[in-house]
Amino acid sequence: MNKFKKLILKKNKTKIVSLTAYSKNIASILDNHCDIILVGDSLGSVLYNYKSTREVSLDMMIEHSKSVRMGIKKALMVVDMPYKTYRNSKEALKNAKKIMSKTKCDAVKLEGGKKVYEIIKNLIKNKIPVMGHLGLLPQSDKTFKFKGKKIFERNRILKDASLLEKAGVFSIVLECVETSLAKLVTQNIKVPTIGIGASKYCDGQILVFDDLIGLNPMNYKFVKKYANIRKDISKAVSNYSKDVRKIKFPNNKNSY
Ligand code: KIV
Repeated sequence: MNKFKKLILKKNKTKIVSLTAYSKNIASILDNHCDIILVGDSLGSVLYNYKSTREVSLDMMIEHSKSVRMGIKKALMVVDMPYKTYRNSKEALKNAKKIMSKTKCDAVKLEGGKKVYEIIKNLIKNKIPVMGHLGLLPQSDKTFKFKGKKIFERNRILKDASLLEKAGVFSIVLECVETSLAKLVTQNIKVPTIGIGASKYCDGQILVFDDLIGLNPMNYKFVKKYANIRKDISKAVSNYSKDVRKIKFPNNKNSY
């Protein structure tokens, strides 16, 4: 059975675990615990301090993905297609093929519903597996607000999810979606939903790794920090600096 079918079969049986990674060493740790590792274009804000993911280029995604690929043996590897790399079917196919061949990833992820329906259909027709992304869309939304308060928004997300399923995506990320809507979407489609700020009712969860370990000093409602890595790093670096200043490091054991 192929890995996408295996993932889809987890729906209603076991929750799907997913995280982002931008480099090899982190990916190799996550690989033992995750079903999906996403090279997210969130790397723009997380690593490069960009104001939005719109500044992330295809080359940046490819270089980080090549690094991540070296750390993954088991998990499905998905790469975000950055802003303005899938404005029409021809452009999307050319860029998705480039991502797939240069990074050897398993699939690409695109943001949007009806607007990208034909584009996604064409990618899948050309044997490029696609993950969808609905709810808050960082590449096009101007403000950071959860989705599903307004009726028109709820109907649109529900319809978009069905459309993406019809187009053939193997799963859909739901970002910052109101709880009852996330539940409804999840019940309404046969492919798994992967939530971020979208309640426990999704078939799986994803977080940005730097948020999970507390490397990112920001606090978001939808994030639970499972470590305070800033504190640990600070302690280690402080000990190192003390040792260097007191000429305790390097000692004879660390010297040739
Ligand atoms: O870019 C990213 O990291 C993402 C996740 C937040 C789902 O798209």
